[in-house]
Formats: sequence, structure tokens, C-alpha cells
Amino acid sequence: MGTYTIAITGASGSIYGVRLLEYLLKKGHKVYLTITKEGSFIMKEEVGYDWRGSEEDVEKKIKEDLNMHGASLSFFDEENLSAPISSGSAKVEAMVVIPCSMKTLSGIAHGYANNLVERAADVMIKEDRPLILVPRETPLNSIHLRNMLTLSEIGAKIIPAMPAFYSHPEKISDLIDFMVGKVLDSLRIENSLFRRWKEK
Ligand SMILES: Cc1cc2nc3c(=O)[nH]c(=O)nc-3n(C[C@H](O)[C@H](O)[C@H](O)COP(=O)(O)O)c2cc1C
Repeated sequence: MGTYTIAITGASGSIYGVRLLEYLLKKGHKVYLTITKEGSFIMKEEVGYDWRGSEEDVEKKIKEDLNMHGASLSFFDEENLSAPISSGSAKVEAMVVIPCSMKTLSGIAHGYANNLVERAADVMIKEDRPLILVPRETPLNSIHLRNMLTLSEIGAKIIPAMPAFYSHPEKISDLIDFMVGKVLDSLRIENSLFRRWKEK
């Protein structure tokens, strides 16, 4: 089983992050999770989960909400810069920022490391480990596009929240699973969350 870092930031689409978290935990992986202040506000608005409070309380709430009491989850506040994932010595296979706001994307692209999300991503880059970003914004301006190019050029994987329709989605959860499936594909984690092209 692997160890992954998930960061949920304040772009619309926190449900993508929740679904990825749920999938990895259910499959028995260990997850380090951090959520920005704006990310938890938007999650409350869009999904209804109120994952705010002390690290201990939030970890408990997540396990209750997802009904995963035995899950291998460690939650860290975005201001906790002494969390294990702040250091390259943490044994983390890959990190996914899902959804990724343009603000966090910019911070990562410029090595700002101003909170735990940006620092943990900076660590992945310096350690040459997989970093996946799932940006969501529309329209995209030249600054957003330049920042994405900067990140892509240094090896980060940009998987924009752009579900496809060849899989004939019927429900919103099909669109969510398409995106999460693409992220899992990129992590090389076997999944059948979406119907692949020409697949029966
Ligand atoms: C309802 C709502 C939706 C938002 N959606 C997006 C979005 O899709 N993409 C984005 O880049 N920013 C979005 N924002 C703005 C970010 O939340 C804002 O830039 C914030 O500072 C991001 O902080 P963070 O990256 O630390 O989470 C949204 C804000 C609100 C209130």
C-alpha cells in the first residue's frame, strides 16, 4: 500500500478531493490530508461537510462523515508547517492538489511555500516525486496559463477538472469519477471508476 498527500484548496470542486480521499482510504492506502481555509469554506458550501477545527477534531469528523473509522488518515492544518509532509524525509509517493485554485497554483509555481500545501508541493518538486495538480478556473488568463506551463515544464502533471463525455455520464457522480479515475491512472493506481473509450 502507498502513502499519498492530498491537498484540497479553495477552487470549486472540493468533491473531487473528497472522492479521491475516499477511494485511496478504501483501498487501504495511507493519506496525509491538508485543506486550506478557503477550501474548507467551499467544501461546506458545495458538499456540506464541515471539516474545520483542530486537527484531531477534523480527523475524527472526516472518518465519521466517510464512515471510515479504521482508515489510515492524518489531517494537518494548512498553517502547520511542522507537519511531516513539510519535509522531504516523509515517505510520500505522490501528492495531488485537488481541486487546485489559481492562487495555490501560483504559489507552487513560484516556490512561495507560504502554507503547508505550497510547502509540501515544493518538497515533491525538490525531491523529484510525482506532483499532480487539478486546476479549476474558467476562463483562464495568461497568468494562469503561464503558471501551468512553468509547472508542467518542471515535471508536475496538470490534470484540469475537465470531464469528458465519451463515457456517457448519467449522473454528476459519473463526471466526478471520470476526473478521479484520470488522477488514479496518473498515479498508476488500478481503477475502473469510468468507462474508457470503446470499453464495454
Ligand atoms: C464560491 C467560490 C468559488 C471559487 N472558485 C474558484 C475556482 O474555481 N478556481 C479558483 O482558482 N479560485 C476560486 N475561488 C477563489 C479562491 O477561493 C481564492 O483565490 C482563495 O484565495 C484560494 O485560496 P487557497 O488556494 O489558499 O485555497 C472561489 C472562491 C469562492 C468563494
